[in-house]
Amino acid sequence: MENQTVTAKKRIFSGIQPTGNLTLGNYIGALRNFKLLEDEYDCLYSIVDLHALTVRQNPAELRKACLRTMAIFLASGLDPEKNIIYFQSQVAAHAELAWILDCFTYMGELSRMTQFKDKSAKHADNINCGLFAYPVLMAADILLYMTDLVPIGADQKQHLEITRDIAERFNALYGDVFVMPEAYIPKVGARVMSLQEPTRKMSKSDPEETYIAILDKPDVIRRKLRRAVTDSENRVLFDPENRPGVSNLMSIMGALTGRGMDDISAEYDGRGYGAFKDAVADCVISVLEPIQNEYDRISADKAYLESVMVSGRERASAIAYRTMLKVRKKVGLAALKL
Ligand code: TYM
Repeated sequence: MENQTVTAKKRIFSGIQPTGNLTLGNYIGALRNFKLLEDEYDCLYSIVDLHALTVRQNPAELRKACLRTMAIFLASGLDPEKNIIYFQSQVAAHAELAWILDCFTYMGELSRMTQFKDKSAKHADNINCGLFAYPVLMAADILLYMTDLVPIGADQKQHLEITRDIAERFNALYGDVFVMPEAYIPKVGARVMSLQEPTRKMSKSDPEETYIAILDKPDVIRRKLRRAVTDSENRVLFDPENRPGVSNLMSIMGALTGRGMDDISAEYDGRGYGAFKDAVADCVISVLEPIQNEYDRISADKAYLESVMVSGRERASAIAYRTMLKVRKKVGLAALKL
């Protein structure tokens, strides 16, 4: 039609590692926002299995965890037609671009990454080059798709910053090749804390009782929340510094219901921690139970999962290929002739 302007949607990329059990932190900090953004943006959501290899994995377990993660993506409502859902390792350009970007990243900047410091302390017997260069692979994931926006939790902010630094350095040398990505970090729930040590982030690689898994059954969720560390004051007041335990539970409720902290406090302060923890449990269960039911249905349908995997891989590869043509040309690698 004449005069019709077609405005391309902006692009989103985000990824989740298929290690262990996805947690309520992953859900509130990232996965939930994937769904909220799917209509407004052109989205790629990846199960970043190459990143998982930076710590030792049991191969059979990892393979299962990859499919489980894809099924959770779908069960949380992501539409595989609207979004490109795929495994990172099945699009070889991620590793290829990561290598090229390695050559534009400095040892000094990588050694400042807090995740590297944490993980090398945790896996002192296996401080491998992959762990060190992890943020460069993440930069490649993002830059490969000319991404505008990256929905992540607060812990990934530093990795987004280094991605921007690498992109800027590359663009300064070769002209505007990469789009400069922005982080999308939720206002509430960007850092869901451990139930046992509420000054630390909830993490899927910590012991079971410290996190709620997306697939935890209702009785398990209730038990874990009842045992969550709070304090002896029995007040439902939002004060992350002095009352990190109860403030974390309030944030979880706030993130899942959209309610403000004052509102939650007005309803539950004075009723005791037991009643409040039960109310948080009701709230978490009402969000996770439908996802679990969908998960059971979807994970039984292997043919469907396979079809999502193949179509995701093909659609992602087509976009990645165009970026690689450009990057290869810029840095002077021989042109790909088909
Ligand atoms: P990963 O797998 O550790 O976590 C996936 C997403 O969940 C968020 N998240 C949290 N948000 C709030 N509270 C928490 N306790 C919590 N724990 C985790 C993370 O911030 C993340 O958004 N390096 C990434 C994966 C990755 C990636 C990418 C992300 C690889 N390439 C490109 C975005 C774009 C990671 O390990 O996330």
